[in-house]
Amino acid sequence: MTPQTASVPGKIILFGEHAVVYGQPALAAPVHKVQAEATVVDGPVGSGLVIDSPSLNLRLSMAEAATHALVVTAQLVLERAGKPELDASITIRSTIPIAGGLGSGAAVSAALARALSAYLGSPIDQAELSALVYEIEKLHHGTPSGIDNTVICYGRPVYFVRGTAPEVFRVGEAFHLLIADTGVSSPTREAVGGVRKRWERDRQEYDRLFADIGQVARQARQAIETGDLAQLGPLMSRNQAYLRQIGVSSGELERLIDAAETAGAEGAKLSGGGCGGNMIALVAPEHAERIGQALQQAGATRVIHTVVE
Ligand code: PMV
Repeated sequence: MTPQTASVPGKIILFGEHAVVYGQPALAAPVHKVQAEATVVDGPVGSGLVIDSPSLNLRLSMAEAATHALVVTAQLVLERAGKPELDASITIRSTIPIAGGLGSGAAVSAALARALSAYLGSPIDQAELSALVYEIEKLHHGTPSGIDNTVICYGRPVYFVRGTAPEVFRVGEAFHLLIADTGVSSPTREAVGGVRKRWERDRQEYDRLFADIGQVARQARQAIETGDLAQLGPLMSRNQAYLRQIGVSSGELERLIDAAETAGAEGAKLSGGGCGGNMIALVAPEHAERIGQALQQAGATRVIHTVVE
């Protein structure tokens, strides 16, 4: 059969993480500079399906690794195409850092599902791909809101409210972000679980904070759509203040946020699950290099410059 390749971007959450799990809106954008790519080619007769990823350091066969997320992804695609048996070889390459809140897990599953569907002659559209990857996200995260699979599969900035159709939104004027990694790996599942425990102890206070975060996300969408970038930095800082209050910031995140703001960023906040992982800073393009250096001096293990457009 004809070999097929598909690639999908990484992602960041711009506004609304955690509150989105409780029904509030959130905004996310793709990060095209980092990508996951899958290529499917014919395999030797009788080989079955083999998934190989030098960058993730794994080699899986369907028979031996039935519960691995990538194998489950392939199984769902084969079922969808009505082809339970297949001799093929899938190679996955990814430049998306693992466990850094940039959507690595969802992206490799999405790239695999898209390439394998095309290989089987039944291409998958964005909405169906996103629904399929959501099933895989549930294996990783327990109660994911669905925002990661949505932004990665659509490859466009999205406004997301759990349980409703995602809205791709317009970016009135492109803006520049630095994404800096604290180097502290922090599983999203644990951060989400911690928030849930604190919410259960004080629902009234947390529901109020989630509603405040939702309000910031709505205002941010409007500012981005109208190209009113002067609003955006202060909104990021406000969102960060609420994230601090719900207990998902950390010393390392605060150090990077502080360094970015001191070096001239317009605003900064953690992005994703928090308690480690990445932060984002809104920067004027002419200051990006200087602020990037300040982030590195403050301990960032990696800085990515991305443009949301
Ligand atoms: O850690 P990330 O980038 O996968 O983001 C998680 C976002 C949360 O809102 C904390 C959880 C979710 O499922 O939306």
